[in-house]
Parts: sequence; C-alpha cells; structure tokens
Amino acid sequence: MSDTDALEKELLTAIDQAEDEAALEAIRIAELGKKGRISDMMKGLGKMSPEERKEAGPRLNGLRDRVQGAIGAKREVLAEKAIEARLQAERLDVTLPVRAGPAGRGRIHPISQVIDEISAIFGDLGFQIAEGPDIETDYYNFTALNFPEGHPAREMHDTFFLQPDENGERKVLRTHTSPVQVRTMEAQQPPIRIVIPGKTYRQDSDATHTPMFHQLEGLVVDTTSNIANMKWVLEEFCKAFFEVPSLNMRFRPSFFPFTEPSLEVDIQCDRSGSEVRFGEGNDWMEILGCGMVHPNVLRGVGLDPDVYQGFAWGMGIDRIAMLKYGMPDLRAFFDADVRWLEHYGFRPLDMPTLFGGLSQ
Ligand code: DAH
Repeated sequence: MSDTDALEKELLTAIDQAEDEAALEAIRIAELGKKGRISDMMKGLGKMSPEERKEAGPRLNGLRDRVQGAIGAKREVLAEKAIEARLQAERLDVTLPVRAGPAGRGRIHPISQVIDEISAIFGDLGFQIAEGPDIETDYYNFTALNFPEGHPAREMHDTFFLQPDENGERKVLRTHTSPVQVRTMEAQQPPIRIVIPGKTYRQDSDATHTPMFHQLEGLVVDTTSNIANMKWVLEEFCKAFFEVPSLNMRFRPSFFPFTEPSLEVDIQCDRSGSEVRFGEGNDWMEILGCGMVHPNVLRGVGLDPDVYQGFAWGMGIDRIAMLKYGMPDLRAFFDADVRWLEHYGFRPLDMPTLFGGLSQ
C-alpha cells in the first residue's frame, strides 16, 4: 500500500468518526488548508520530474478530491444531525395547557366587577359617573340633605366622627353616597344624570354589615322627570344587572329626609332552594331606597323646585354583589384571602359589557 493509500484510509476513517462540524473543519484545515498535509504534498509536484509528476499528479488529485468529497458528505450528515438534535431539544407539545402569566392569574374583586357591571348598564342608559370625598363635612353628609340638627335620622347612621379641627368642625366618614348628589348639583346645571359608586362607613359589623361598605347612588335632575321615569330606570337596571328578561318590583312608602315621597324597593325572588333566584318565586327582597328629590335639597343648591325636579336612589353594592354571586358572608370581601378571591374573583381581561354579557 502506497503512502497516499495509507493516508487516505486514515483520513477517511477520521472524517467518518468526526463528532461535529468543528472536528471536521479541523481535519479539513490540517489536510487541505494552505499549510495542510495534502496541500504540501501537492506543492511538491512542481519539483518532480515530468515522469514522476505524471504518476503522482493524478494520484494526489484523486486523494484530494476524495478527501474533499468525504468531508463535504460528512458535513451534510452532521448538519442534518444538528437540525435533528435541535428539533428534539426545542420540541413543543402544543396540546399542553398554557400556563397563565401573572396578568392572567390575577383576579378582579367582585366589588370592582359589580361596579364595572353597574357602570356598563348606566353608561348605556346615558348616565355619567360622579365621585366625592370619603371624609365629608357634616353639612354635605347631613344638613344639605335636609337632616335637621338633632334629628334622630342622624343617629340612625351610626356615624364615625373625626376629631374636631382647629375651628371646632367635626368631619365625618360619609355614611352614604348621597352627599355627592349635593356636590354635583352645586357644580353643574341640570339636566343631570349621574351614578355615584363609592365607599361608605358606619359603625356596624356582622355577617351582612361591615364598617366600610359600598353604595351606588343615582340622581336625575331636569324639568320633567317623575316617579314613572324612576321606576322604569330602576327596573331596567335590575333586569340588566340580574340578567333576567323580566322582574317584578314592589315599591313601598318609606322615609328619607332628602326625598319626598320616599320609597323602598323590593324585588321578586325565590328563596326556596340553596340560592336566591330572581325574576321568579313568591319572596321579596329589599334592595334599594329611592324617591323624588326633596324641594329643600333643590333649594339648598340654588335650584327652584317649581322649575326643577329629580329623582334619586341609593343601594348597597356589596349586598347586590352577594345576591347575584351567592356569597354568604360580607366580611370575607375584605379579608384579603387569596383563596377566596381565586374562587369568587373575575378574570381581569373579561370586561363586562351589555353586548358581550355582564358576568360571562
Ligand atoms: N342614602 C340612603 C342610605 O344610605 C339611601 C338612599 C335612599 C339614597 C333614598 C337615595 C334615596 O338617594 O333617594 O340609606
């Protein structure tokens, strides 16, 4: 066997055994590179006699071509293998369930959800959202709403009083959202159509009362509004909110200092099963207070009660949330227990809309 035959055998074996493209490239440089072994041998051709060259030329060319060919072929095999390995390593099982990111795992508190639902319903009816401060003056919380000084209705509210300030004025944590009616009427002219969701405070705590709770106030003021309009608005709201096609409501006479006449509203429900169902059954459940805005309240904000009239209502947001979503204990709303929130909370990207469904 000639030297070149032995070399060829050695190289073909080395090429065959090359583990990766780097090892193969090392062989190519060592043999066929500028200073490679085969290249050196080919350079020697120039110094040979024509006879020697005639024999050595084809032999070396053949060696070079075959080695080059083997390297090329092996390179293709290795590239193929590399792709195979990468495909294996990056293999994805698209049938696996997607793991939710932080935004998908978070939950919207039922109170926020219900406020969004309420806003969607009243927004659709042409109402705007209004807000006011949680720390109120006695004037806005009581006096401007026609609660006379020393009137027992003030005590009924179990008010939280703050320490008197330097002028002796004792602010309160608002006991209802009604003061925002007065603030809005002072700030803008009729026609007014607003709803006021917000936090309210009273000294009370049991399964259905917490010292901080939420109310939704509504106010409409213009020159023509009347009780029939109010009943229609409240009925439309209740049907949309409880997502039932029809609902019976019962209006009972009541008393609030800031409305005349004043009414309390019950909705028809069925309490015979484990959960309350609306729009059917023989039971009634009280859900809100309402009435025509008292002339004294209108006069207090500079509106002539012979020209303007309005209606207003107030309801507990926590209470209607408990009713709609079957949550038995109000205190759990404010425990910040993540397990409770995971169970009763809502997906953050499912915004309630009337066309898309409120609670889907
Ligand atoms: N502010 C009342 C409360 O907290 C609820 C209420 C009743 C509001 C009648 C109103 C209304 O606007 O007209 O108990």
